[in-house]
Amino acid sequence: MGEVQQCEGVRCERPPSFHLDASCSCDRLIMRRRKIAVAAGFCLSFFIATLLNLLCAPGFDHHQQHPRLQDGTDASLRAIAPDLLQQLRERYAEVLRYRQHRVTPPTSASARLLRPLERRLMDLQKWDYDKVPGSDSDTLSLSQPGSKIDVSLRSPRLGCQDIRNGTDVRYLGSGYTKAVYKSLLNGSLSVAMKSVDFGGHDIQNCVRHYGTLEDCYRLAAFKIVKEMILLQRLQHPNILQLYGYCYQDSNDISDTLTTITELGSPLEMIQLLQSPWEDRFRICLSLVRLLHYLAHSPLGSITLLDFRPRQFVVVDGELKVTDLDDASMEETPCFSHSDCFLEFPARNFTLQCSVEGKCQNMNEKRNLYNAYRFFFTYLLPHSAPSSLRPLLDTIVNATGELRWGVDEALVQLEKVFYLYRNGLYLPNITDTPKGEYREVAHTVVAEEDYRCWPSYHHSGCLLSVFDLNEAKDVCSSHSQCQAFVWTNQTTWTGRQLVFFKTGSRTLVSDPDKTTYVKLTD
Ligand SMILES: Nc1ncnc2c1ncn2[C@@H]1O[C@H](COP(=O)(O)OP(=O)(O)OP(=O)(O)O)[C@@H](O)[C@H]1O
Ligand SMILES: *[C@@H]1O[C@H](CO)[C@@H](O)[C@H](O)[C@H]1NC(C)=O
Ligand SMILES: *[C@@H]1O[C@H](CO)[C@@H](O)[C@H](O)[C@H]1NC(C)=O
Ligand SMILES: *[C@@H]1O[C@H](CO)[C@@H](O)[C@H](O)[C@H]1NC(C)=O
Ligand SMILES: *[C@@H]1O[C@H](CO)[C@@H](O)[C@H](O)[C@H]1NC(C)=O
Ligand SMILES: *[C@@H]1O[C@H](CO)[C@@H](O)[C@H](O)[C@H]1NC(C)=O
Ligand SMILES: *[C@@H]1O[C@H](CO)[C@@H](O)[C@H](O)[C@H]1NC(C)=O
Repeated sequence: MGEVQQCEGVRCERPPSFHLDASCSCDRLIMRRRKIAVAAGFCLSFFIATLLNLLCAPGFDHHQQHPRLQDGTDASLRAIAPDLLQQLRERYAEVLRYRQHRVTPPTSASARLLRPLERRLMDLQKWDYDKVPGSDSDTLSLSQPGSKIDVSLRSPRLGCQDIRNGTDVRYLGSGYTKAVYKSLLNGSLSVAMKSVDFGGHDIQNCVRHYGTLEDCYRLAAFKIVKEMILLQRLQHPNILQLYGYCYQDSNDISDTLTTITELGSPLEMIQLLQSPWEDRFRICLSLVRLLHYLAHSPLGSITLLDFRPRQFVVVDGELKVTDLDDASMEETPCFSHSDCFLEFPARNFTLQCSVEGKCQNMNEKRNLYNAYRFFFTYLLPHSAPSSLRPLLDTIVNATGELRWGVDEALVQLEKVFYLYRNGLYLPNITDTPKGEYREVAHTVVAEEDYRCWPSYHHSGCLLSVFDLNEAKDVCSSHSQCQAFVWTNQTTWTGRQLVFFKTGSRTLVSDPDKTTYVKLTD
């Protein structure tokens, strides 16, 4: 309690208003002012209290009395526009909340990891009047030998030294705030490096408005810091892995921040729509697994305010979220159901207001509806095995109507996965005539390809099947098919990849494959 009062003295408990960039086309929502109680979390450690003292520097808050900092720094501080400073404070407070917030007790590991980062944050708070001359930007790097490396950052743990030697650096993309580059480290590990885009809209708009690159950089950098904290505290196969970070001087700004993460490739919706159902289903299953984790995360229920496909990347066919700067763990407070209004372009919902004054499952439901409108509706039903269609249609409908929560959606998608993987979607009739085939072991048909859709191969007909019977069924359903080649490759579900062919004149030896030649028509 005493700690809370200490905070009240500097007005730091004022809840930050949640603020989205104007460019963001995601669903705006009215984030209500948060409960004061959360502010207690700010002051849990002496360290944080020190940060807050620095943050709430005099010259901006006439009500607070902090003799320690009233030493001729006012002039330079006043140079920052008050609303820019206010935004900086809000971003900073938000970062602290993500850093501090816990539903379950935190691992001391995660606390240790971020300590160096906090020290740096403190530097960010000191503005120009208190720059430490000649500070060694590497002393706090995680990869520094001998520094207390944290177990919660899974290996490889990388820092400035690692990316300094990177080769094959390539621009990958940028959004409103950040620019992302690919780099090959040690000639072996490909990583993504994310930093504030000095040419991006965020910085450009801010500089145009406030005229101060350095402070605008700080404002933008908080987004990266927030993303880093989230990447580090949320660990899931469908959340991009954070490998490390680096502070380095860049563009005349000291201590610019670069995060080093797992590399992905952009999620191309058009390309996905042309790929086999199995691959599209994988994206949807990854997504629902991610949403299930986010709904029950160590930080509470997390919502992704910006849910456009560009916020995700694909790694080995799995969807992973990369852009977390618009994630929120705020729960929407309410007095009546009408406060729990969820607005989307094509549809609005009013959720329940609980007796505790919280909109029930709002974060989870927002995620789920977005999953429906950006992914499920396009990717799930289209060209699915026909016996799975009713179940898939039910999933699409129930998520589109928000009839289910994310737990139920996960159960149903996992059920589809189970049915598919185990061949239980196949027709029960086993006595359909399949034709006779001659098995020619250790051979492959070199040519005689034809195209089919959707094929795993651009010029041949390469499809996945559950078993030999299904391969025969597929062959008899294609008029061109006269033979097929059982390869030694499987898809992510464990299904066999089979090449369908127009004949077997070009039979050649191959130890890993078996050809089946159609005998009768
Ligand atoms: N790990 C990664 N691997 C490959 N590409 C990535 C990775 N992270 C991001 N990208 C690409 O870089 C782009 C910009 O990244 P990011 O979305 O984080 O920036 P942003 O400024 O927050 O963008 P936005 O305006 O969409 O919020 C992404 O759209 C994505 O295509
Ligand atoms: C960087 O690369 C050079 C040449 O490949 C090598 O000699 C040096 O040890 C590398 N440095 C680090 C820190 O990996
Ligand atoms: C690169 O090689 C150096 C020296 O062998 C090693 O210390 C470092 O951990 C390696 N980095 C990565 C990313 O593998
Ligand atoms: C959703 O609500 C907004 C604001 O009340 C309204 O303008 C819009 O027409 C509604 N949309 C639909 C599809 O009902
Ligand atoms: C769900 O199904 C009902 C009944 O068929 C239909 O009226 C409704 O439009 C469907 N909703 C969605 C989101 O597909
Ligand atoms: C096959 O038969 C079983 C049991 O009779 C049934 O549960 C299943 O739905 C059927 N599968 C298909 C694809 O028709
Ligand atoms: C399949 O066979 C090829 C050679 O034809 C071999 O290189 C490859 O390792 C095999 N793959 C698997 C999964 O066995």
